[in-house]
Amino acid sequence: MGLYAKYIFPHILDYVMSSSILVDCRQDTLSEVKGDILEIGFGTGMNLPYYPENVRRITGVDININIHSKAEKRLKSSHIQVDYYPINAEYLPFPDNTFDTVVSTFTLCSIKDIHRALSEIARVLRPNGRFFFAEHGLSPDYQVQKWQHRLNPINKVLSCGCNLNRNIKELIGSCNLKILKLDQFYLGKTPKIFGYLYKGMAAINPS
Ligand SMILES: C[S@@+](CC[C@H](N)C(=O)[O-])C[C@H]1O[C@@H](n2cnc3c(N)ncnc32)[C@H](O)[C@@H]1O
Repeated sequence: MGLYAKYIFPHILDYVMSSSILVDCRQDTLSEVKGDILEIGFGTGMNLPYYPENVRRITGVDININIHSKAEKRLKSSHIQVDYYPINAEYLPFPDNTFDTVVSTFTLCSIKDIHRALSEIARVLRPNGRFFFAEHGLSPDYQVQKWQHRLNPINKVLSCGCNLNRNIKELIGSCNLKILKLDQFYLGKTPKIFGYLYKGMAAINPS
């Protein structure tokens, strides 16, 4: 991991992800989570205040070991106990059928082998489990897409691997998961290339 990713990016990430623009989206995404919960790309713990009151414990994973120190304040002030693993979501160290819920917010954009990570999510979910997600990605508008493709290489460098142009709906649907609920919309007050959101819920595809 380079110096930028280690020392500078965690501060930028914490600042950007604490935006009030994302609060409704976080609240909505987490409103129905229950049971044994895994959050991938835990980041700086931004979702902690938005879990329902009855959630007392979750498992969190994040590949960037330097992110965790930025999460400490939120972890201390939360009623939720987090079992934290500094690991890659492409290789989850949990047995099959471990979780009732998997959560991902603004993370699928930056996982390198996204197919592998989504397959892992499907593997660790229990048969009736649910995958709740809120992600930014590829816009359906040609003009916006054009700039998302153009700016993707530079964005990846500046944002430690974040892709602007992933079709989240197609990706989730291609990995043993079936989308049961999906809202697609532009986030307000955000440039369209960063702010096209896919918010929804998926389950294991029985076929
Ligand atoms: C944009 S941040 C979002 C953080 C948090 N989910 C939120 O909503 O504020 C993306 C996070 O995904 C993590 N990440 C990227 N690739 C990952 C991987 N392969 N496995 C686990 N975490 C990963 C990054 O370290 C970063 O903390």
